[in-house]
Amino acid sequence: MMKIGICGAGGRMGREVCKAVLSEPAFELVCAVDPHYENQSLRELVFEAPEGLRIAARVEALVESGAEAMVDFSIAEAAKKNVPFALEHGIHCVVGTTGLSREDLESFEATALEHDVACLVAPNFAIGAVLMMHFASQAGRYLEGCEIVEMHHQAKIDAPSGTSRHTARMILEARGVDSWEEKDQGPRGLSMGGINLHSVRLPGLVAHQEVIFGGKGQTLIIRHDSFDRSSFMPGVILSLKKIAQHRGLVVGLQHILEL
Ligand SMILES: NC(=O)c1ccc[n+]([C@@H]2O[C@H](COP(=O)([O-])OP(=O)(O)OC[C@H]3O[C@@H](n4cnc5c(N)ncnc54)[C@H](O)[C@@H]3O)[C@@H](O)[C@H]2O)c1
Repeated sequence: MMKIGICGAGGRMGREVCKAVLSEPAFELVCAVDPHYENQSLRELVFEAPEGLRIAARVEALVESGAEAMVDFSIAEAAKKNVPFALEHGIHCVVGTTGLSREDLESFEATALEHDVACLVAPNFAIGAVLMMHFASQAGRYLEGCEIVEMHHQAKIDAPSGTSRHTARMILEARGVDSWEEKDQGPRGLSMGGINLHSVRLPGLVAHQEVIFGGKGQTLIIRHDSFDRSSFMPGVILSLKKIAQHRGLVVGLQHILEL
């Protein structure tokens, strides 16, 4: 059984990861780290947790627990310290925390290589969303017209979403375009190299995106919906199962899916 630790275990994503890891026979949850819930029984937050597993405030607990891999869904400031610490101690890392800079990733890569472990950083663990981007990049080579409509809950601050921008980038790259202009076009959305991005914010929505292609006499719509946080868990579990096959830095779930 692979021993797993979770940083940010008390957070919304962290609790979901605890549940997912506990339901996998191949894994043993040995450590939960979250300073906000110091010394609290994990079972108070996650019903499925074994009795006696207490939440640690400090990342050092990972080493004491014998964790072989850790999952980090915390905050960028914490991940910047927790991830290198784990890598230095020979622990593979699966990182979902957003807001990390290019410099952070470069330093993760150097540390992971130095200590012969792997560090996966994925901005989106929903397998369906990663497939949507992959299929859209294929379709974009053949169908010229493209607009992206991303729809999220009203609390999401940034617009257009990182996923919609990334989708446009992948389509442009698949078309062989390596530099493009970004232009705010008001009601026609943000143009990224001619692909218009539109943002909808409404209560009731979670995370949804449609990539709409138009060609002569036809349209093609590729749509993905995340209805709740459980949508991210198959991607996290698959990443944990495959992480030991990698070394150094891996950015994006597409590499785990071998797309
Ligand atoms: N990659 C993806 O697919 C994906 C999906 C959803 C969310 N996210 C990202 O995951 C992160 C967490 O999201 P959330 O909604 O669970 O947030 P959250 O605020 O509910 O949880 C974050 C948790 O991290 C804890 N924390 C703070 N400092 C810590 C430290 N030093 N060590 C360990 N834990 C610490 C906090 O106490 C909190 O419980 C965010 O960066 C979010 O953007 C990524």
